Amino acid sequence: MAEFGFTLHATDGGARRGTVTTGRGDIATPAFMPVGTAGTVKGLYLDQVKGAGADIILGNTYHLMLRPGAERIDRLGGLHGFIGWDGPILTDSGGFQVMSLSALRQMSEKGVTFKSHVDGAIHEMSPERSIEIQGLLGSDIQMQLDECVALPTDAETMKAAMELSLRWAERCRVAFGEQPGKAMFGIVQGGDDEKLRVQSAEALKAMDLKGYSIGGLAVGEPQEVMLAMLDVVCPILPAHKPRYLMGVGTPQDLLRSVARGVDMFDCVMPTRSGRHGLAFTRRGRVNLKNARHAEDHRPLDDEMNCPASRTYSRAYLHHLIRSGEMLGMMLLSWHNTYYYQWLMAEMRRAIEQRRFADFSAETEAMWEAGDI
Ligand code: GUN
Repeated sequence: MAEFGFTLHATDGGARRGTVTTGRGDIATPAFMPVGTAGTVKGLYLDQVKGAGADIILGNTYHLMLRPGAERIDRLGGLHGFIGWDGPILTDSGGFQVMSLSALRQMSEKGVTFKSHVDGAIHEMSPERSIEIQGLLGSDIQMQLDECVALPTDAETMKAAMELSLRWAERCRVAFGEQPGKAMFGIVQGGDDEKLRVQSAEALKAMDLKGYSIGGLAVGEPQEVMLAMLDVVCPILPAHKPRYLMGVGTPQDLLRSVARGVDMFDCVMPTRSGRHGLAFTRRGRVNLKNARHAEDHRPLDDEMNCPASRTYSRAYLHHLIRSGEMLGMMLLSWHNTYYYQWLMAEMRRAIEQRRFADFSAETEAMWEAGDI
């Protein structure tokens, strides 16, 4: 089985072209990971996800531990066997979802106690239990349990959450131990405070983990703040380890973050926006709900090699979305997933050819022209 590792093939400014190697296959970076929260990338067959070019998908500890349960998934062959995906899977640790989804929650040194959004039952999750659950799921890239606070918040809360996350990172490192072909990433926290971000990144770097996530961003702050935090954190993180910006983002966020040295991303945006009638295209966003598409014969983008993008008219997509039809949501989720993978592939090519800055400028100019 291949060892977990990261190889850097080319750099262009801050942008990096690499390969993450796992026991279950390689991930070409910069990579976008479609989100399969509850064991499904919503509205898509996994064949479509793979066909769009995704090497890896994401699963969520929080959702899967509540339903159908981590021990049950283990008995059913782990998440890979259960859902039928044989490539790598990255799992989030649960801390972030507890904060955003559960009604009652309490953080303590021990871990987090929360009330399930599914049936109201009280659960406790320690850093060790989060790693145990991610192991039962069979996750290839696991996340430490962390505390992510919404911005804006006060300095004390931000500092306390960052420090607690560091202590939990160490407990997760010990709990994970050494697992062939797999990795556990630490998560840089520290809100919008440069000093806290530096402390967090340096302390995690000293733990010599196999990869580093950057959390606590895209949680209410302006994009400049997020980019400024990347400018602070990325140069501290070791060059030969992958960097994953959690929960980000728009196509423009991806371009600007890759320019600063981020290798991996995940976001619900392509599928969630698709369900709401919004398509991302090479020429910008298209809101299919808009009446101007009612008699538009053109497909979304006939240069994309995806049936949802090239064989259905905007008029039909408009009709499906306006009528609340499942197929409309499925087609737009498919198109958007394809578009995001296309964008990552183009970024990888541009970095290899040392023309990332030009590619980025041209891409942003096309979006701004809004000629869709
Ligand atoms: N997803 C998006 N942001 C975060 C974060 O800060 N922590 C975790 N665990 N998951 C995230």
